[in-house]
Amino acid sequence: MRVTFQLNGEPVEVDVEPRMHLADCLRDALRQTGTHLGCEHGVCGACTVIVDGAAVRSCLMLAVQADGSTVVTVEGLSTEEALTPLQTAFRKHHALQCGFCTPGMLTTAHALLPDEPDADGDRIRSALSGNLCRCTGYIPIVEAVLEARAAYRKTDKP
Ligand code: FES
Ligand code: FES
Repeated sequence: MRVTFQLNGEPVEVDVEPRMHLADCLRDALRQTGTHLGCEHGVCGACTVIVDGAAVRSCLMLAVQADGSTVVTVEGLSTEEALTPLQTAFRKHHALQCGFCTPGMLTTAHALLPDEPDADGDRIRSALSGNLCRCTGYIPIVEAVLEARAAYRKTDKP
């Protein structure tokens, strides 16, 4: 089936099997391998992307369901020239070690903060509670998201 959607600001058109999930479409068909696959059944959050403004587990969504949508992956968060304030805060706070969970953490936080730039630590922990990290102990991730909030108060989408 032919599917068209906006991916990181660019229109894409791709042929997929009806059963292909969005994560495989992004990684295998469109070569956006920043979206990671861990559990492939909706538990780990590594595959999280932003679809029409909402954080979505791309292993639980069929590629055909993205037809006509706007999709943002971790590759769409920064330009080639610079990291976003959220990514900069992750680096500053050592909020990643192996990095496997990081794309999902970043996309989840990036979906949250435009709507809730004053989210407190509890709200951030709740939003990230579906994203598993085996390395950091989560505290630096929450600290990084807390610091990045200021940038989301100034602009719609840093
Ligand atoms: S790979 Fe999608 S939630 Fe784990
Ligand atoms: S940094 Fe390794 S799983 Fe989170």
